[in-house]
Amino acid sequence: MSMNKTFDRPTIIHFNKIGNSSIGFISIAENSILPFDIKRVYWTYFTPQDVIRGHHAHKDLQQILFAVNGSIEVELITKEKETLKFNLSNPSEGLYLPPMCWRTLQFSHSAVLLCLASEEYTESDYIRSKEEFLKLIA
Ligand code: TYD
Repeated sequence: MSMNKTFDRPTIIHFNKIGNSSIGFISIAENSILPFDIKRVYWTYFTPQDVIRGHHAHKDLQQILFAVNGSIEVELITKEKETLKFNLSNPSEGLYLPPMCWRTLQFSHSAVLLCLASEEYTESDYIRSKEEFLKLIA
């Protein structure tokens, strides 16, 4: 188990940057500094700019999303019924998503999303109907 604090709300996590602009940078995510232990990593790429991905929430999954290249517009509806927008464009910043966040994502040209996830893939953890999601948070 990670010993670090978790967050109840979507939160930008700032990761250290090692390096400098003449050689480039390294950022590191390891379990000891994360709000959860990583069980899965996936990345999403070659998404056309006019496509909106996501359209789902997760019952239990926690995630940290990074735009490791390009920029990604993330729109959320939280379980507190807030609508939040984040523009991810800095590879050293990750967006922590707690469970029960409805999300849509729009990618800039050649953007790459990296996701650190607290659980392995289970389709039964997804809520893919917005109507059902809105009922669950009502
Ligand atoms: P999905 O999470 O719906 O992508 P997005 O929200 O970005 O549109 O996943 C797309 C497809 O990939 C879906 O059929 C499920 C499958 N998938 C896996 O099999 N394993 C995984 O870890 C993930 C993230 C998706």
